[in-house]
Amino acid sequence: MNPQVPTATEKPSAATTARLTLDGKDYDLPVVVGSEGERAIDIRKLRDTTGAVTLDPGYGNTGACLSAITFIDGDKGILQYRGYPIDELAEQASFLEVAYLLIYGKLPNANEWKAFSDLITRHTLLHEDMKKFFEGYPPHAHPMAILAAMVASLSTYYPDSANGTTDLNIARLVAKLPTIAAFSFKKSVGQPFVYPRNDLSYCGNFLNMMFSVPSEPFKISPVVERALNMLLILHADHEQNCSTSTVRMVGSSQANLFATIAAGIAALWGPLHGGANQEVIEMLEKIRADGGDYKKYVAMAKDKNSTFKLMGFGHRVYKNFDPRAKILKAAADDVLKALGVNDPMLEIAKNLEEIALRDEYFVSRKLYPNVDFYSGIIYRALGIPTDMFTVMFALGRLPGWIAQWKEMRDDPSSKINRPRQIYTGALKRPFVPLSAR
Ligand code: CMC
Repeated sequence: MNPQVPTATEKPSAATTARLTLDGKDYDLPVVVGSEGERAIDIRKLRDTTGAVTLDPGYGNTGACLSAITFIDGDKGILQYRGYPIDELAEQASFLEVAYLLIYGKLPNANEWKAFSDLITRHTLLHEDMKKFFEGYPPHAHPMAILAAMVASLSTYYPDSANGTTDLNIARLVAKLPTIAAFSFKKSVGQPFVYPRNDLSYCGNFLNMMFSVPSEPFKISPVVERALNMLLILHADHEQNCSTSTVRMVGSSQANLFATIAAGIAALWGPLHGGANQEVIEMLEKIRADGGDYKKYVAMAKDKNSTFKLMGFGHRVYKNFDPRAKILKAAADDVLKALGVNDPMLEIAKNLEEIALRDEYFVSRKLYPNVDFYSGIIYRALGIPTDMFTVMFALGRLPGWIAQWKEMRDDPSSKINRPRQIYTGALKRPFVPLSAR
């Protein structure tokens, strides 16, 4: 591993201090500087020294941890995993290599790669009893609900133990998530489950479990396999987003790995987070059904009396462009061309983007297409149904969640996450019995 890469236990230097004046008294607060020069005012002792806490609903200005996993510069549109630029990884790495990189902090050498990929391949099967769980869901159950429930249920088969099951449980989770995802799809279309195959790649095996039927084994196109590999890499980590912060929050109580990741899956499902990829396609379909009048939808997104938003637009961190969206826009063209797919949604998406990017409302608020804007169009071309899109995001994000969980668990200074609040409710008052109310 590059010795210059800081690890979570190495504290960035306190280069300077910030002065806070409260009730006429000055307090000097340490300033922590990250390896890329980002600065944070360390308020860990603020309440003890001043009696006050900070208030930051939505955590837009709160650094919740020190982390050596992913670096984002939202103004410059930079995203790096362990120092490696996202475009280089998306173009050259395999998803499992990236998973290893995120979780273990370095690219695997040949021996490490063989051991890791063999381990993942050997653990793809689900316990036969777990198949029965799928029978209990209604046919149109959303696959994200099934995914979260099944991942939590893995803890009943593979309990945490103190003596070193962590790496094995990590491998089990990475290996079994595609199987659970594909089984949830098969359940929704009423087809028999297709068991994992050890001779296929991680992505090839997933595609086979999704699309093979007993009468016709699925022919895995290298274009599709490569596109899926790239999509999973682009989603693999994104530092302290909503689902990852959920994973750190739940994991900080020392809940087991499976329960913790199930919580992350639940957080990802929301339409403002990973659920946006499904919403984008549904929005594009609506625009198409409405005669393709995208200007009307841009106007609705700007209208403060309407709850409509341009799904797939805007990001808490990226204020220039989302580097993942840039890669995906180019990939959407290439993949659709290579597969001979002519999807009118791509045209609508491009027109919508063009008009929005010239509009003062979007320009002044720095709203650009995010990762979810073009990913759905590629998933459609690969044959993945719309309600599986967020499941695909979860498959990609899994190594990031695990890496962030592991970094926190391996840090001896980690504490249970427990924010403060400013109470705004009623003052103390006596209880009034029901008969007197
Ligand atoms: N359409 C129209 N207006 C928007 C949009 C949008 N998609 N996104 C933000 N705005 C407006 C918002 O109304 C606000 O306007 P004003 O200043 O007049 O009140 C301003 O832009 C700032 O937005 P915000 O909601 O304060 O920003 P945020 O950082 O809290 O929210 C966001 C970020 C991604 C939740 C939001 O942009 C959004 O809801 N986008 C649509 C959903 C989406 O695509 N989510 C996927 C995010 S990327 C994948 C992931 O990592 O989860």
